[in-house]
Amino acid sequence: MLARLVVLVSGNGSNLQAILDACAQKRLPARVVAVVSNKADAYGLVRAHLAGVEAMYFPKSDGESRCDYDTRLAAYVSSYSPDYVILAGWMRLLSSCFLSHFPNRVINLHPALPGAFPGTHAIERAYTAWQRGEVDRSGVMVHLVPDEGVDNGPVLACEEIFFQEDETLAQFEARVHAVEHRLLVETLARVLAAGGWEDESG
Ligand code: GAR
Repeated sequence: MLARLVVLVSGNGSNLQAILDACAQKRLPARVVAVVSNKADAYGLVRAHLAGVEAMYFPKSDGESRCDYDTRLAAYVSSYSPDYVILAGWMRLLSSCFLSHFPNRVINLHPALPGAFPGTHAIERAYTAWQRGEVDRSGVMVHLVPDEGVDNGPVLACEEIFFQEDETLAQFEARVHAVEHRLLVETLARVLAAGGWEDESG
């Protein structure tokens, strides 16, 4: 049985592409059943079309509250009966009005180590911190999204990436994305093989 994935994106969708490729190559026992974007011009929507996957631009209406939008989004996503909802560059905070519908089933990718540089532009902020001598590494993490905390939650996988002498931001960014594409797929494969995520904290 292939797991059903709904992937939420806001931009380029290179991580969505990594998932689509892994599904097509049977490295991931899953199928992307829908891609949703809160941005009309997200290239991730094009990637979905090209892969023959349903793609939906899902904007917030004028005057709509965060909870009303999240409830509407949850209903839309639920209509695809997903086993997991993957936030692959989804740059909008989800409230409990969304998350309560998918307990332990929303997985986020973030280009930094746990607790470091939450929010937007994490790669650039880590690079700046390195240039100032404040850090010698950053990384990538994949985690569950239990609540409204920003890029925070039980860590499923993380990988450190050390800065290399004289590297440019573009070079560092490319290395981060390469790790993301691999780590996201590996982690999803592991979660699916385990039949889900068990909270072992007692
Ligand atoms: C990725 O680097 C992802 O980790 C990041 O957005 C980028 C999306 O790239 N997510 C966050 O910063 C979440 N706070 P993509 O659209 O090419 O997959």
